[in-house]
Amino acid sequence: MNKVLKQWLKKSYIKIILILVLVFLNIYILTYPPKIIGNIIDLLYDIPNNGNEIYKNIFYLMLTVVGLFLFRLPWRTMAQNQILEFEKMLKDNLFTHYMKIKMSNLQNIKNGEIMAFFTKDSNEVRRFIGFMFNKTARIVAIFIIATYSMIKSINIKLTLISLLPIFIATLFVFIIKEKVEKLSSIARNNFSKLSEFVQESTNGIRTIKAYSGEDDQIQEFEIKSKKLRDSDIKVSVLSNLISTLTNLGFGIGMGLSILYGSNLVINNEITIGDLVAFNGYITMFVDPIIWLPQIITKFKLAKISYKKLQNFFSLEVEEIKYIEERKGNVLGDIVIKDLTYNYPANIEVALKNISLEVKQGETLGIIGTIASGKTTLMNLLLRLYTVPRGKISIGGIDINDIKLEDLRESICYITQEHFLFSSTIEENVKLFRDGYTADEIIDSTKNAMIYEEISRMEDGINTVVGERGVDLSGGQKQRVVISRAFLQKSNIVIFDDTFSALDNKTEESLLKNIRSLTKDKTCIIISNRISDIKSADKIIVLDDGEIVQKGKHDDLINENGLYKKFYLQQSSKIDSEVGDLIG
Ligand SMILES: Nc1ncnc2c1ncn2[C@@H]1O[C@H](COP(=O)(O)OP(=O)(O)OP(=O)(O)O)[C@@H](O)[C@H]1O
Ligand SMILES: [Mg+2]
Repeated sequence: MNKVLKQWLKKSYIKIILILVLVFLNIYILTYPPKIIGNIIDLLYDIPNNGNEIYKNIFYLMLTVVGLFLFRLPWRTMAQNQILEFEKMLKDNLFTHYMKIKMSNLQNIKNGEIMAFFTKDSNEVRRFIGFMFNKTARIVAIFIIATYSMIKSINIKLTLISLLPIFIATLFVFIIKEKVEKLSSIARNNFSKLSEFVQESTNGIRTIKAYSGEDDQIQEFEIKSKKLRDSDIKVSVLSNLISTLTNLGFGIGMGLSILYGSNLVINNEITIGDLVAFNGYITMFVDPIIWLPQIITKFKLAKISYKKLQNFFSLEVEEIKYIEERKGNVLGDIVIKDLTYNYPANIEVALKNISLEVKQGETLGIIGTIASGKTTLMNLLLRLYTVPRGKISIGGIDINDIKLEDLRESICYITQEHFLFSSTIEENVKLFRDGYTADEIIDSTKNAMIYEEISRMEDGINTVVGERGVDLSGGQKQRVVISRAFLQKSNIVIFDDTFSALDNKTEESLLKNIRSLTKDKTCIIISNRISDIKSADKIIVLDDGEIVQKGKHDDLINENGLYKKFYLQQSSKIDSEVGDLIG
């Protein structure tokens, strides 16, 4: 975070200094109109003799108005641009960092928090910087320049007497502001609770309707919205009190200045023009007094967000250190030796003493109970989490020594969740990689048994899917994702439970295509259906993080173990289905 701030200051410091100079000049010019108006009033006593002088002063007054306009416009535009520049830098850095962070570091961060980094937290910090430019610089300038003008050109005692009530009022405002802050934070909390509730209802609208939950939801919404209203009312009552107090302070200040000022006029210590100018100066303090407490609030909010961002930025990114400088596909021989693993956030061991070997060209089938560590093993192969040294090697190299980019390009991992990005089917098949011909893409969808369905869509392969487009069925999404395996030229292809939504016929053809695709590649098929893995060269059976059986299908069905149990369960199911069919 400090890095971003430094980067911005380094890039923009000349402009920032210029902005501050313009702010001071602007305020300096602002002290002229009261002075000139005061002069004019003094000159009005003897219009016949002072005619020329009066016109001259009116001309000066016009000149200050033009001057103000000329300074104000570039100052405002420049300040705005610099703030937007900062925001862009911050968000760019945030996103780059987010993309590169280690998966294990993201374990404990909720998606909502990450979203907040990009919206709420960045905005708080940006707002504070904007406030510094816009208001803080002006407050400082006004306090210095206006007070100086009041003391120097009019009267020090008058200045002190008139400003005193204003400062006392400000003090009260600070005290009340503390309370307002607490209430505001409650109100904000109520607001986000209401927003979260609406968001959840939006996501779950089908479930709500299917279970006739509308009335319950409406009731809950009303309770939340009432809480929000009540907390907002409290905030607004106190906020009104603040503005009333400020006005009172100014009222008394003005009153005192006229009372004491008139005395000074009678005693010929100052002129009537001076008194009028003096009141002009006092009004210059109105805005700063209102802004002062806001600075504190803004600072506190920005500090919280700044710390959050700082923590996020300090999370370790994926190391790019590697011994072997190689570019391109890693050979597909996988050797795992006595691998035990537990997730950083989880004390339970996810994998226990896993040892296995798969050669390039072979297919490994993995079957196992739910949560037995199948996906975890794949996460480690991709080094999404830190892998202990000496435990996994690919192509004879410890995977910690393979350049991360090469490793991930060598493996095409078809994940269990068939998530599609909101873009075209073609983009979803290519997925961040270019250099494929249109024919190659079409062929891959044919091999994944989804081509026919795509070609029936109006825009074919260019159909937009996901949030912004067509909603595909679970099985269709799965096959779009599977197409990637046929397109990418990786040495290792992994299918993690990707055939669950397919009918038997499609599954059979797809498996045939996969066999021919992976003839020379390393292929790992994770599935709980025996039919998907029975022709694999090697099969491992996982239970509770351990390999409980290893071998080929024909041997495993004769062993007394989990595999045989799965086999019998599934074949009896098939038998009963066949029985149902033939009556
Ligand atoms: N990111 C994670 N952080 C902490 N624990 C995790 C994480 N991912 C998985 N686990 C835990 O590790 C164990 C193995 O999970 P894994 O996803 O590897 O199982 P799986 O065999 O793929 O299950 P399934 O058949 O449901 O896909 C589970 O107990 C799970 O709770
Ligand atoms: Mg899994």
